[in-house]
Amino acid sequence: MSDQSKEKFFITTPIYYPSSRLHIGHAYCTVATDVMARYKRMRGADVIFLTGTDEHGQKIENKAKEAGLTPKQFVDSIVEAPKGVKDLWKLMNVSYDRFVRTTDASHLKTVQTVFRTMYENGDIYKGSYEGLYCTPCEAFWTQSQLKDGKCPDCGREVQPAKEEAYFFRASKYADRVRKLLTETDFLEPKSRVNEMVNNFIDCEGGLQDLCVSRTSFSWGVPVDFDGKHVVYVWLDALFSYLSPLGYLNENGEDWKRFWPADVHFIGKEIVRFHAIYWPAFLMSMGLPLPKKIFGHGWLNFNGDKMSKSKGNVVDPYLLAERYGVDALRFFMLRTFPFGSDGNFTNESLISCINVDLANDLGNLVSRTVAMVGKYFGGRLPLEQQEDEEKDDELITLACDLVHVYEEQMEKYAFQNALGEIFKVISRANKYIDENEPWKLAKDEALKPRLARVLYNLLETVRICGGLLQPFMPATAAEIMKRIGAAEYDWDSLAFFGTLYRDAQVENGPALFPRIDAAKELEELEKLQAAQAAAANPAPAEEEAPLPEPLPTIAFDDFTKVEMTVVKVLACENVKKSEKLLKFQLDDGSGTPRQILSGIAKFYKPEELIGKTLVAVTNLAPRKMMGQESRGMLLSAERGEKLHLLMLDDAIPAGSRLC
Ligand code: MSP
Repeated sequence: MSDQSKEKFFITTPIYYPSSRLHIGHAYCTVATDVMARYKRMRGADVIFLTGTDEHGQKIENKAKEAGLTPKQFVDSIVEAPKGVKDLWKLMNVSYDRFVRTTDASHLKTVQTVFRTMYENGDIYKGSYEGLYCTPCEAFWTQSQLKDGKCPDCGREVQPAKEEAYFFRASKYADRVRKLLTETDFLEPKSRVNEMVNNFIDCEGGLQDLCVSRTSFSWGVPVDFDGKHVVYVWLDALFSYLSPLGYLNENGEDWKRFWPADVHFIGKEIVRFHAIYWPAFLMSMGLPLPKKIFGHGWLNFNGDKMSKSKGNVVDPYLLAERYGVDALRFFMLRTFPFGSDGNFTNESLISCINVDLANDLGNLVSRTVAMVGKYFGGRLPLEQQEDEEKDDELITLACDLVHVYEEQMEKYAFQNALGEIFKVISRANKYIDENEPWKLAKDEALKPRLARVLYNLLETVRICGGLLQPFMPATAAEIMKRIGAAEYDWDSLAFFGTLYRDAQVENGPALFPRIDAAKELEELEKLQAAQAAAANPAPAEEEAPLPEPLPTIAFDDFTKVEMTVVKVLACENVKKSEKLLKFQLDDGSGTPRQILSGIAKFYKPEELIGKTLVAVTNLAPRKMMGQESRGMLLSAERGEKLHLLMLDDAIPAGSRLC
């Protein structure tokens, strides 16, 4: 039951397709939403944070068929399974309040009722659709909307398709939607407005009516008055923002208090559905519009779009296991401005952990707590000197922090909010160096001043730690424990001096141990390459054609070839030759035999030392690059590949092949 007197805050993430494993890009949006929800809760608001899964459509139907499952079994296997959608949110410490699945019976009811209501009020009508269909995006396009002849959203091939269908009269709402986009702050960042208006509303032909039913597959919400149609996934999915709150079903009446949503966080490629059709649907149903749609940027990896087929999707499980969930959450929001695309690299992740978390934050906490321990046994004395003028800068910064932080958080400028916290953290580290507590500690008369310096540091840590809580919940709790701050509610973060003067501090291991960047990068790249290889095994290479058969020879001719088992004593590259390796071989005679062989492209000299090979030892000696070669090493060749013939090391040097 919600407290009606409190401020309410309703925030959503997109509902996710359970068709493939989610990656760090998906986690980006959900973590940002979680940060916002935790921030509002910390401020005392009554929050609903909604997320879920988008489970209908042809793509799911096809994948289920491939997997030999019913569509419901298929989606269940992804939503509820280990490393599935819910499991990932658990890993990322995402504190959602509601989880909607579009296969929930209550959601079905909402969608069917919405469809019927729109049909009855004339906003949905029956017609037939002819167009170019993109199956992965489940979207029809006109020729002029295609980019280079391909789907403008995903860049894949589209197919001509025709079907009887119901249409939503989007055209009727074009003017109202244009006004909404151009004259209000409904859609942010503002940079996304022009694209929407120019491409979809003020384009040739104006805003087109939207095809909102399908007959070519059956995995969807059935239209209850025309059984061969299922509702178009986007109409279905968008109402998932309302169905869990009881709108047109028996899920309670939260929608009356919580609707309209305060903000929908979404990725940039689905802005069209949220900024154009969603308001039009709501207008048709006579509902108020969400206060804001925020279209965030995409996370790329090493400059490239993350995609399973490219094998470059970044696995949050791997990173969380190595660096901790808080570091990962922090990194995403500290490094990339929320409204723009960001380029995820392993280097930037490790550097962020080392610089911000290990050096700045971690050091401040551990130095401060360690000094309170060392100089005062873990508890500052009550007698402390009054502040001096030189303390003002730090104290003012720490006192103002909550206000500048709030200003940025209210704009969803997470990077800036964190930037403000880290300005204060840096200032506090400088304050330690300026005041040199280790010198104050040497003079008993200066102990009250020392106590004051350390108290100011503890207070700064408390305020910074408290404001970090939405981003790094576990770390914030640990920091508070270490500095002995029992409470850190929102109001206390605006006051410098609320920590008990004699609070008991507690030492602990480094919050974020420094990472050896070079070593770690190498290791991480190896692990990611192994994951990519496991996800996309290399296609079987085409075998090179068999070589031409040689003419038959007499047995006697064969016996003339002396093939001897040899052991590699030494091997090196021949100077100025890219092809040749020079071997010193034990052929059993007691005198090393030198052979030159053109295999430098295939082997490194050091990997051959000690190996047991086969050499033809009665070939006439010849010179190569000015050096004598007495024989030839046997190898097997097929196409571009070459393998030296290697024998069991138990065979003694000098044995003859027969
Ligand atoms: N099911 C629809 C949303 C319906 S909302 C009523 C959908 N699902 S999705 O699983 O494909 O994407 C979910 C969210 O993840 C989208 O907001 C999308 O932008 C986001 N991201 C997917 N890859 C991403 C990155 N690489 N980076 C950042 N966000 C990305 O769309």
